[in-house]
Amino acid sequence: MKTIKIGLLGLGNIGTGTYKTLEMNKVQITEATGLNLEISKILERDTTRERDITVVPQQFTQDPDEIFRDPEIDIVIELLGGIEPATTFMLEAMKNKKSVVTANKAAVAANFEKLAETAKANQVEFRYEASVGGGIPIINALTTVLQANQFVEIQGILNGTTNYILTQMTDFGLNYEDVLKKAQELGFAEADPTADVEGIDVANKLSILIAILFRSYVAPGQIPTQGISNITPEDIAEAKAENSKIKLIACARMEEGQLTYSVKPTKLSSDHPLAAVSNEFNAVYVTGNAVGELMFYGKGAGPLPTGSAVMGDVLEIAKKITSR
Ligand code: HSE
Repeated sequence: MKTIKIGLLGLGNIGTGTYKTLEMNKVQITEATGLNLEISKILERDTTRERDITVVPQQFTQDPDEIFRDPEIDIVIELLGGIEPATTFMLEAMKNKKSVVTANKAAVAANFEKLAETAKANQVEFRYEASVGGGIPIINALTTVLQANQFVEIQGILNGTTNYILTQMTDFGLNYEDVLKKAQELGFAEADPTADVEGIDVANKLSILIAILFRSYVAPGQIPTQGISNITPEDIAEAKAENSKIKLIACARMEEGQLTYSVKPTKLSSDHPLAAVSNEFNAVYVTGNAVGELMFYGKGAGPLPTGSAVMGDVLEIAKKITSR
């Protein structure tokens, strides 16, 4: 049986979820693919943290070059988060002929063209399914089964934290600050929630979707972006009275050759499919000129849903490597 060795950059929550996805489904994955996948090296400073996975000390390294220069490693998974050093590490891995899989929306959105070009130049794969919508297979769907379409519009709820806050405000009449505090206590919201509540996280994800759907790179900072921190119980009540719900919507639309895009709180009629998406769930509503309207729904965050998407990308690459 062929063994595919993997280097993992980062063993935080998502790294651990990815490792666990492979660990708990190893038998099924091996039976289905005929491949033995092995995470042989892990770049991680915190080697003592309690994790619900089996890792031996020899797997850990503090030196990324040990992964980049290891001729036995074919695939590098980048789960460090943030733009740097993640981008530099991904480029370095590609230059050393390693395919790269990432869940890092900030790095992919900031350096989409450079990463894609470097992968092409080095004849390696670059996959980032988990960077948008967590476990929802939106990028693979758009780039495979839907690739024969011209896309007209995409609308998405792409952030679990803000959707949780807006849902709780709507269902229980609570104010923004109280729900944010509750979300932080439950671990849904980060200690510093700025990127989520100000729409920056969603702008990163929309930038990636625009690049795929419309083959046009729009930097996240160029997307008009408004978050939810100014939404009041009165705004929510007003929407309710109009039989509507306020959702943080990422939207991109191509009309007569003109591309428009935005991230902003939007009143949706209660019968709109996206209005039914509650709490930490994400959804993407996309219209193609052949397929018509489609909706993708699922968990947009969390270690295992994100790990599922990361490992899916890894397996696609592993299958290609072995079929060469
Ligand atoms: N902070 C993000 C969210 C995580 O709340 O959806 C997933 O990208």
